[in-house]
Amino acid sequence: MYRTLTMFLLATSLYGANFISSDVCRKCHPTIYNEYRDSMHSKSSIYSDDIHKSVWEHHPMKKDGKYKCAKCHTPSDTKLVNSLLKDGKGMPQDNEIEQKEPIGCTYCHRIKGIKEGKVSNSNIISQKPKYYFALKKGKNENEVIKFHETTSFFGLSRKVTGSPFHTIDYSNKTFNSGKMCLGCHDHKQNSKGTTICTIDLKSSKESKENCITCHMPQVQGSFNTIIKSKTHAYHGFLGVHNNPKALAKYIKIDAKKVDGKLQITVKNLANHKLFAQPLRLAQLHITIQSKDKSTKLKPFDFSTVLGKDGKAAPAWLATEILKDTTLKAFENRVIDTNYTIKSPQKVILEFGYYKVAPKFASKLGINSKDATTFHTLIKKEYNF
Ligand code: HEC
Ligand code: HEC
Ligand code: HEC
Ligand code: HEC
Ligand code: HEC
Repeated sequence: MYRTLTMFLLATSLYGANFISSDVCRKCHPTIYNEYRDSMHSKSSIYSDDIHKSVWEHHPMKKDGKYKCAKCHTPSDTKLVNSLLKDGKGMPQDNEIEQKEPIGCTYCHRIKGIKEGKVSNSNIISQKPKYYFALKKGKNENEVIKFHETTSFFGLSRKVTGSPFHTIDYSNKTFNSGKMCLGCHDHKQNSKGTTICTIDLKSSKESKENCITCHMPQVQGSFNTIIKSKTHAYHGFLGVHNNPKALAKYIKIDAKKVDGKLQITVKNLANHKLFAQPLRLAQLHITIQSKDKSTKLKPFDFSTVLGKDGKAAPAWLATEILKDTTLKAFENRVIDTNYTIKSPQKVILEFGYYKVAPKFASKLGINSKDATTFHTLIKKEYNF
């Protein structure tokens, strides 16, 4: 009895009750709402993300009627999540939440804490409605703000504090430096116990950046319509799908001549593994131009190859990691090409990525141009 009760309490606090629609927040936070609608957090369901949908179509859980991806991809769809909690079964239905806000405003802003887990972490959702966590910004970090007006000069001057719609709690440490992102983003294992994706976070004393400063930088525009501010935290979430070039400054590439040969360095200034999602393939393209000809060297790959019995295998079958050449947090990769430079020559470096590695794309039947073309992040030229 006690056990069922704690299980129930844990289940409800992991998944939470109903979430107020993001349309309500839009009234007072229109700029943030519009950015959010462009973000992958608004497009993470099978109805808006073709790549996710294609993988799901091939996934064995589909035959079993268990869309367990909901935990991270559509946690705002309470009906689906509760059905999965009840009997392990549940499939996405085409509805407004799946279409517009699978990871809604109120889901993120009600994350009270993170529960660490072996297969994946989980979010602990606060049960208080209209009570949202936020990051302190020159505010007292223990502060909880309810809407109030103060008047002075016999009522001639009014000052409004807080939101007339909700309470704001700045005391939640999980919001500091983006710890709240790790309920979904830290790691994920498949049913064989193989870690198929991990962000592999490292800390460094030199880096002042965190998930929020890099992926939600301050951009122009007020954060709400009542109390004006010059800037707000970008809710489009910079990433491979959304304005990736804005993050390119955290990857440095360089070419040098060492003992007559071409040496290239690729440095990752981010505190996590880059292009960790196992579908991705990042590459370095090298073109060498002489007066009369242009030569392309074999591209260098940065990716994870999952496998079974020594052969490449899809994420749900993988029992091992065959190869991991991704750029690790703060790594400085030195690549000796063995190519002898005969001056005068021009070396052109291009670093970029495929959202879906071409060999997986054909297997999964993904053929959209965006998913299968090479997106250049950085291009540099050197004259030797
Ligand atoms: C523990 C949380 C979690 C679970 C459970 C989960 N995912 Fe994800 N998934 C993520 C996160 C976080 C990302 C974004 C990672 C990134 O871009 O590096 C992602 C990204 C993806 C992508 C890449 C999408 C794109 O547009 O590039 C695919 C495909 C995907 N997931 C498939 C699935 C499928 C299928 C399931 C269920 C069988 C699933 N995921 C379950 C967290 C999860
Ligand atoms: C009636 C207008 C109104 C509505 C509706 C509204 N908010 Fe707000 N919200 C505000 C105001 C005003 C502030 C600024 C309060 C302050 O700074 O004192 C605010 C602040 C916030 C903050 C904290 C910002 C910070 O860092 O200081 C968050 C988070 C937030 N709102 C989320 C939401 C969400 C999520 C919704 C939808 C469920 C929502 N709001 C709906 C008016 C509104
Ligand atoms: C120093 C800046 C920096 C910090 C800090 C940082 N990132 Fe990133 N992140 C990057 C860069 C650079 C990329 C890859 C390049 C791109 O998308 O243009 C990236 C990519 C990503 C992607 C997309 C990967 C893919 O292949 O789909 C996710 C998801 C992500 N980061 C999540 C996080 C989370 C969660 C945190 C905090 C734990 C975090 N990042 C902290 C710079 C940063
Ligand atoms: C993926 C999680 C996530 C989602 C989804 C999300 N937010 Fe936020 N939001 C955050 C984090 C983290 C911060 C703190 C960033 C900061 O203040 O620098 C934040 C900050 C804010 C702020 C304060 C911004 C500022 O610059 O002071 C407001 C207001 C807000 N969110 C409203 C919303 C609304 C409205 C939505 C939906 C349209 C939404 N959020 C969706 C994570 C999220
Ligand atoms: C409820 C789970 C959840 C939380 C919390 C969450 N994310 Fe995500 N995030 C996802 C999923 C799922 C995806 C992949 C969506 C897809 O591609 O279908 C994603 C995608 C992303 C991407 C990739 C965007 C792109 O263009 O490729 C970035 C960057 C990102 N998240 C950053 C963050 C940051 C920073 C936080 C914390 C402030 C955060 N996320 C919180 C689930 C979450």
